[in-house]
Amino acid sequence: MRKPITEAGADLIDLLLGEHGCILALMAHQERRMARMSLRELQECGAALEAVLQAHALEEDQLLFGAPGELPAAVRGTLQAMYGEHQEMRALLEELKKQRQAVRARASLKRLMELAREHFAIEERALFGLMRQWISPEKLRELGLLYARRRGMQLPG
Ligand SMILES: [Fe+2]
Ligand SMILES: [Fe+2]
Repeated sequence: MRKPITEAGADLIDLLLGEHGCILALMAHQERRMARMSLRELQECGAALEAVLQAHALEEDQLLFGAPGELPAAVRGTLQAMYGEHQEMRALLEELKKQRQAVRARASLKRLMELAREHFAIEERALFGLMRQWISPEKLRELGLLYARRRGMQLPG
């Protein structure tokens, strides 16, 4: 029997976690070649990372951080800190585009990767659990469907 839509399919947190896994795989791939890369190659890596990191941060900023109504101050504070780190990653990406020496571009890219990994770990260890406590499963699945539509995905319903 087909389940009602609110009881089936991935919710927004599941989808964001999957995206973390994908971005971590991309960074590991880039990191393996980073020591031998030219300035242009390092900046191309930055452009690829920018595409996935920006898309990911935008979904979190708009769907997750923007959605809930009443949240305790401590949860709001964690959300605010994550939003600040998204801005920090954007600034690092901009810095990388302006670099004119491979050694400096490599350092910016490395800092960006470190920040992204630490940021993902905090979301995975703390923020996403808090979100599951404070946002209903139905709402999270609804947001998952919205995410899927925005990305052009077909979620099983
Ligand atoms: Fe984030
Ligand atoms: Fe995230």
